[in-house]
Amino acid sequence: MEKSSVLKYSRTMRALHWLLAFLLIALLIAGMVMVNSTDDATKFAIVQIHAPLGILAGLLLLVRIFFAFRHPRPAPDPNWSPMVKWGSKIVHILLYILPLALVSTGIGTMVLSGLGPMLQSGNLGPWPDMSIVPPAQGHSLFAKLFMASLVLHIAGAIYHQWIIKDNLIGRMMPGK
Ligand code: HEM
Ligand code: HEM
Repeated sequence: MEKSSVLKYSRTMRALHWLLAFLLIALLIAGMVMVNSTDDATKFAIVQIHAPLGILAGLLLLVRIFFAFRHPRPAPDPNWSPMVKWGSKIVHILLYILPLALVSTGIGTMVLSGLGPMLQSGNLGPWPDMSIVPPAQGHSLFAKLFMASLVLHIAGAIYHQWIIKDNLIGRMMPGK
């Protein structure tokens, strides 16, 4: 994670940022629709898309973390207050860690609730009672923490764009 004089994130980091942003937000929405549905057939239909896409997000996150350490990233503006500097650093770290925690608790939920074996065998019973499946409790908690961090992240991007007006988003946008 060299500090350097580059002005933008690398092409790979920018592409992965927007691809993952799209995928993770879709997963959050699909997850919420799934748990709020009262119809088991709908839950099963959604989880069969949610789980493989969640695993895909996990693989892309690992690729992203690999490049985050290898590619130089733009340094924080020296004019930023310590709150902006540290606040954004902490939120960025959460935005890497919480999705990884969601992927591992998601896999744990599939295994321990019996959903995985049910989908593999094709013998769908009633939707399992998730209140007795610890990784499902974790998945739900991490999803809420992730959504809260994302709200802060987007508020930060808007603050930079409209209040500080430093066009920070340019560092994540296409172009040279
Ligand atoms: C699920 C959605 C998202 C996730 C997980 C996410 C995650 C991240 C992470 C981890 C970084 C830091 C990259 C690094 O330094 O290694 C970052 C940077 C950035 N993100 Fe996002 N992001 C998401 C959505 C968005 C959205 C919707 C916007 C715009 C409204 C946005 C704007 C930015 C900008 C401008 C930066 C660069 C900040 C800087 O240069 O200090 N992100 N994002
Ligand atoms: C970063 C990726 C992921 C995100 C953002 C995500 C998001 C969500 C959300 C928001 C919920 C609703 C939680 C609630 O309010 O109780 C949910 C439920 C669920 N997710 Fe994920 N998920 C991800 C990855 C995975 C993976 C990889 C799997 C399995 C391989 C998985 C399996 C499930 C299952 C089985 C449920 C239903 C749990 C229940 O009924 O309580 N998720 N997910």
